[in-house]
Amino acid sequence: MDTIETLRGQRGDVGHLFQGDRVHRDVYTSPEIFALEQERLFARTWQFLGHASQVPKPGDFVTTEIAGRPLILVRAADKSLSVMMNRCAHKGAKVLTEPAGNTGRALRCPYHGWSYRLDGSLLGLPIQKDYEGTRLRECENGKGLERIASAERRGFVFVRLGGEGPSFEEYFGPALSFLDMMADRSPEGELEAIVPPLRVSIKCNWKIYLENINDSLHVFAAHEPTMIAGRQIWSPKTPDEPRPMPVEQLAGFQAGTGFEFIEKMGARVMPEGHSLLGLAASVHSHYGEDPDYLAAMTEAYGEERAKAILSYMPQNGVMYPSVALKGSPQVMRVLRPIAADRTVLEAWCFRAKGAPPMMAERSMLYNRLVFSPLSLVAQDDVHLFETAQKSLLASGNPWISLHRGHRPGEENDFGKDKSGIDEIVMRNQHRAWAKYMAPAWSGGGA
Ligand code: FES
Ligand SMILES: [Fe+2]
Repeated sequence: MDTIETLRGQRGDVGHLFQGDRVHRDVYTSPEIFALEQERLFARTWQFLGHASQVPKPGDFVTTEIAGRPLILVRAADKSLSVMMNRCAHKGAKVLTEPAGNTGRALRCPYHGWSYRLDGSLLGLPIQKDYEGTRLRECENGKGLERIASAERRGFVFVRLGGEGPSFEEYFGPALSFLDMMADRSPEGELEAIVPPLRVSIKCNWKIYLENINDSLHVFAAHEPTMIAGRQIWSPKTPDEPRPMPVEQLAGFQAGTGFEFIEKMGARVMPEGHSLLGLAASVHSHYGEDPDYLAAMTEAYGEERAKAILSYMPQNGVMYPSVALKGSPQVMRVLRPIAADRTVLEAWCFRAKGAPPMMAERSMLYNRLVFSPLSLVAQDDVHLFETAQKSLLASGNPWISLHRGHRPGEENDFGKDKSGIDEIVMRNQHRAWAKYMAPAWSGGGA
């Protein structure tokens, strides 16, 4: 049987833990595999760091930590963005200790006072004369803060932590359109992040959460209590009585009510683990739009294009391994793995520039109603994620089933329309996982 002991014997080759239609429990429970993911999967692929609207002026910064690396995103004097390690080149102290702020024209380490320009290069150090004749300027320490590869699209800033891996465009390919889907809903084509994001700590492996995002089948079992509560809360006097916003959003969890509805929603898988659920419809399809907003969108894009943007309401676009977006209600979830059995969920919402305040309210309300620790909906899910994480540790059959809809040769089905209920979206994630978890990077992108 495959165990972590046999993994060590295979020099960290863990690809056999995914067998095309089933996946071994060690993938979710092993601290050793979690450590390998940090250095392989999360360093070789692209992770969301933050949004450009968080740092509008020169010197503005945000700090964060991704896959164990402390990071700084800073706006330079020429308005460009830089991402660097938040680790002083002297003795490793954190250079910036606040979550956000303005650092002026330089970054200064609080430990011994080394300072850096906004691009991370070394600006000055105390008692310069004592470094004359030393090798400091020739080695890494003399170069300043370590730069991290970054890329921006429509304000969304991503990083690739390691030196090897595909380019941003190669890696995300058609999944980049999910970011456009978010920003195109602004009549000005721009978003502002409403910060800080909601952060929730969950006692499960990040993949248990990620698989669930495009797992449409669970809605009818796991969210039955929410469906019942939704029906009890709201009983309109007439069929066209306008629904309050929370009722509109909760009603989504009973939209269509039936397997036929989710089958017809449709799904698509893409290279590198990305996927889209809800090609034809989703639980968000029934949201009404404010007449002022419709008018602003029509003026900005023309009638046909505005209609196309607004009628496109997929359930989720997943940018593997850690981002999922909803064009409407303009929310984004980001998974921050902390340990094999601990994940922090960041739920972001956005203000679409030029749109009425109702749109930002919709985004913020959805986050609270569906993702927060007090949410009716999240409680249905989190309870199941945490019990699964615990029970996977018990002895017995160590394999998780991903058989629903599996067909030989499906690994070439990129871009084809699939049933919205097919577990291919999860198998596709594990295929990407096995690829990036290989001991040596084999090169190539999509
Ligand atoms: S650790 Fe930063 S100046 Fe010494
Ligand atoms: Fe759910």
